Amino acid sequence: MKFFIDTANVDEIREAADMGIICGVTTNPSLIAKEGRDYAETLKEITTIVDGPISGEVKATTTDAEGMIREGREIAALHPNMVVKIPMTAEGLKAIKVLNSEGIKTNCTLIFTANQALLAARAGATYVSPFLGRLDDISTTGIDLIYDIVEIFANYEDIDTQIICASVRNPLHIIECAKSGADIATVPFKVLMQMMNHPLTDAGIEKFKEDYTKVFGE
Ligand code: E4P
Repeated sequence: MKFFIDTANVDEIREAADMGIICGVTTNPSLIAKEGRDYAETLKEITTIVDGPISGEVKATTTDAEGMIREGREIAALHPNMVVKIPMTAEGLKAIKVLNSEGIKTNCTLIFTANQALLAARAGATYVSPFLGRLDDISTTGIDLIYDIVEIFANYEDIDTQIICASVRNPLHIIECAKSGADIATVPFKVLMQMMNHPLTDAGIEKFKEDYTKVFGE
């Protein structure tokens, strides 16, 4: 399973890219709004940091296919690595179909059922983004959705849509996603750091330092 980072914060993206652990970025209107910067300018800067798929979403206020197609073309024109993120609606599916026919990559977001994922794949989405955490939030086991989509897509050779596990909230989500065989997990910076940490690693580093300096000094 590959990792994308789920943020619009360029410092976090740079830090994760420097560690070599991510190969793509996902953003959404909430994440970009949180940074308080210009939408297109933020996406453009991200393309200079990571050389991989960068998801930029159509405006949250755009709901018709025509508007999403227009914005999708603008987002795609920012950089060859841009992927247009489109919400799972009937209008969104129409937009995915058209953008796909033009060779523009899309990421169908806000997927909460396997049926939605199947429809997005058939419309031509390059990626689908099922949201685990938000399902867990309403007492529905989010990881079951990931397992269902992985199983269903594997049944059909002609589906090459990749699965991005989204709304990932903790390190255990990551283990489950990796076990499911999903292609990608998009992970907040905080969770990437949580994956890296272990108290025994910290204690081991301290002990090596202590033993070394006793004999060799600084
Ligand atoms: C997906 O691409 C979204 O940007 C994101 O994963 C949503 O996560 P949240 O449910 O924690 O807001």
